[in-house]
Amino acid sequence: MADMDNFKEAESFGINTPQETTGFPLKGCNNLDWGMKNRLARIFGDDGKSLMLACDHGFIMGPTGGVERIDLSIVPLLKYADCLMCTRGILRSVIPPTANIPVCLRSDAGTSILTNLNDNVVIAAEEAVRVNASAMAVMIAVGDELMEAKTMANLYHTVDIGQKYGIPVMGVTAVGKQMARDAKYFRLATRMAAENGANIVKSYYVEEGFETVVASCPVPIVIAGGKKIPERDALDLAYRAMQAGAAGVDMGRNVFQSTNPAAMIQAVAGVIHGGLTPDAAYEMFQDLSK
Ligand code: 5RP
Repeated sequence: MADMDNFKEAESFGINTPQETTGFPLKGCNNLDWGMKNRLARIFGDDGKSLMLACDHGFIMGPTGGVERIDLSIVPLLKYADCLMCTRGILRSVIPPTANIPVCLRSDAGTSILTNLNDNVVIAAEEAVRVNASAMAVMIAVGDELMEAKTMANLYHTVDIGQKYGIPVMGVTAVGKQMARDAKYFRLATRMAAENGANIVKSYYVEEGFETVVASCPVPIVIAGGKKIPERDALDLAYRAMQAGAAGVDMGRNVFQSTNPAAMIQAVAGVIHGGLTPDAAYEMFQDLSK
């Protein structure tokens, strides 16, 4: 029991200062619970934008270029990223818990590039809690006759887990082996992800009409970088996505396969958080590469 001697009477009521009622800066997230918002705020920060660094590729591709040794290639980049997207295996074996970076945990697992992609199941609910994940990511294969229903079930099952523990879910739109997808396809896939409860949706950028993809998705969209392209083009891609209303990137190969990953991730951050144009960001990349 608190000591009642010399008890200080309550007097600081701030009568003329109304309690601030703040909105939440992320699209479609204002009605979420405190834990969800807190985790989203860790990923998206004060400006509601995020540079997520994706290095989950090994879960279907094995040690592809740039992620052969995540301790050597990815860990030194963590200080420049707002969030790390990876599997629980990499997290526990390689990522220092002291890195204190929000983690978007790859929460489905299944087939490799050698067989039918996306024949996945969801990992145990408690895993995301154990590793203190700030979000869980699951793939959806919209339009894939074999895997669409299964991957959508993975998504809404993961959303059930997320709701239970206050962990946001990122729905990852898969493009599979046929990369040609357009705005109409991504409007459908991203909207399906959001309608089924995803709090963040990962999409690919499309040249024509990406702003309609963002506009018709009621929650924040981050884009994948996709296959490695020249640095100037990748910065341009990030810039155009942000101009169209994206909330950030979840970029992998165009960072860790760059000629200078540390310079590249800082240049991408310049686009995401600093509003740098592609030219300015590329100049930054070149300067940091010297
Ligand atoms: C697919 C993913 C990958 O993490 C995604 O492809 C991001 O990486 P990249 O920028 O290399 O495309 O979510 O499961």
